[in-house]
Amino acid sequence: MYGAEIDEIDQKAVADHQLREFEARIARGEKIEPGDWMPTEYRRQLVRMISQHAHSEVVGMLPEGAWITRAPSLRRKMILLAKVQDEAGHGQYLYHAAETLGATREEMLEALHSGSAKYSNIFNYPTLNWADVGVIGYLVDFAAILNQTMLARCSYGPYARAMVRICAEENFHKKQGQDLVIRMAQGTPHQKAMVQDSINRWWWPTLMMFGPPDSDSPNSPVLKRWGIKTKTNDELRQTFINEVIPELHALELSVPDPDLHYDPQTENWVTGPINWDEFWRVIQGDGPCNKERLEARVNAHAEGYWVRDALAAYARKQSIDHT
Ligand code: 3HC
Repeated sequence: MYGAEIDEIDQKAVADHQLREFEARIARGEKIEPGDWMPTEYRRQLVRMISQHAHSEVVGMLPEGAWITRAPSLRRKMILLAKVQDEAGHGQYLYHAAETLGATREEMLEALHSGSAKYSNIFNYPTLNWADVGVIGYLVDFAAILNQTMLARCSYGPYARAMVRICAEENFHKKQGQDLVIRMAQGTPHQKAMVQDSINRWWWPTLMMFGPPDSDSPNSPVLKRWGIKTKTNDELRQTFINEVIPELHALELSVPDPDLHYDPQTENWVTGPINWDEFWRVIQGDGPCNKERLEARVNAHAEGYWVRDALAAYARKQSIDHT
């Protein structure tokens, strides 16, 4: 046996030992930190998930942001301003979390702007009226909270800690949306019809937010193995459905699903089939607003060039002044 082959066996033995120790740490509930050894696939999966999460937050500002200037009152304008501003902060938080894994901001933004990176399907639908602002806050942010509360227990330290801060703000996002939906549901018949129409448009894309069915979720097995996901897509989706259906019914609102029924055996609300063709079509770029959303982000990035340029010049001057 030659030196190179022995080296290869030694390297494999070391790698196997490192992987076993890594998985033992996760089994003990330890957090993996940026400087720790981690499998290449663990790092790749986290950069993929966290960067796409960050993209979702930043693109997610657009649908509601369009209604800030058209809010029906100063109070509602201030609430919506605060919410949209929070989403920007969540995006920055998450880009930083991805940077702890070696990803650069330039690479991540290039992936978004080129269309090669994904962001949440939900933000590729249009916000047609003020009721959508309430339904997004109530349903979309509620779905995000369930997913993000799970991620707050993720094995990667920086991501888990980012989620704790983000979930606190998402709860405000959900509550302000729920308040808006309740007011409209209990308002004039026209307001109630508006909010029902909005739920009809946003219900199914919100269920798709949790990801494809577990049977068609290629990333889930490794994410569950290494404690990045602690619940599956279907588990979180079912939790959401079970919690939100009774709340909507209490408001005498419905969801656009004639097959919806309660199963007393499983104590689950069971929906009709989700249109996964629509899901895959939208996340592959062919949704109602994909083009508009990406153009808005590319233009905003281009228009912000002078800010980045000034900050870089300031940083250079600082380093010169302090050498
Ligand atoms: N939108 C767009 N793409 C989606 C998606 C969705 N809702 N759900 C799944 N996909 C993509 C995945 O990214 C994957 O593609 P990729 O391998 O090219 O990245 C493919 O569909 C297969 O899906 P998987 O189930 O195998 O993917 P995951 O195991 O990563 O699960 C996920 C998908 C549940 C979205 C998971 O990635 C996740 O939890 N991500 C972090 C949370 C997040 O991104 N949330 C987005 C919403 S943020 C938000 O709502 C902001 C709030 O303020 C409103």
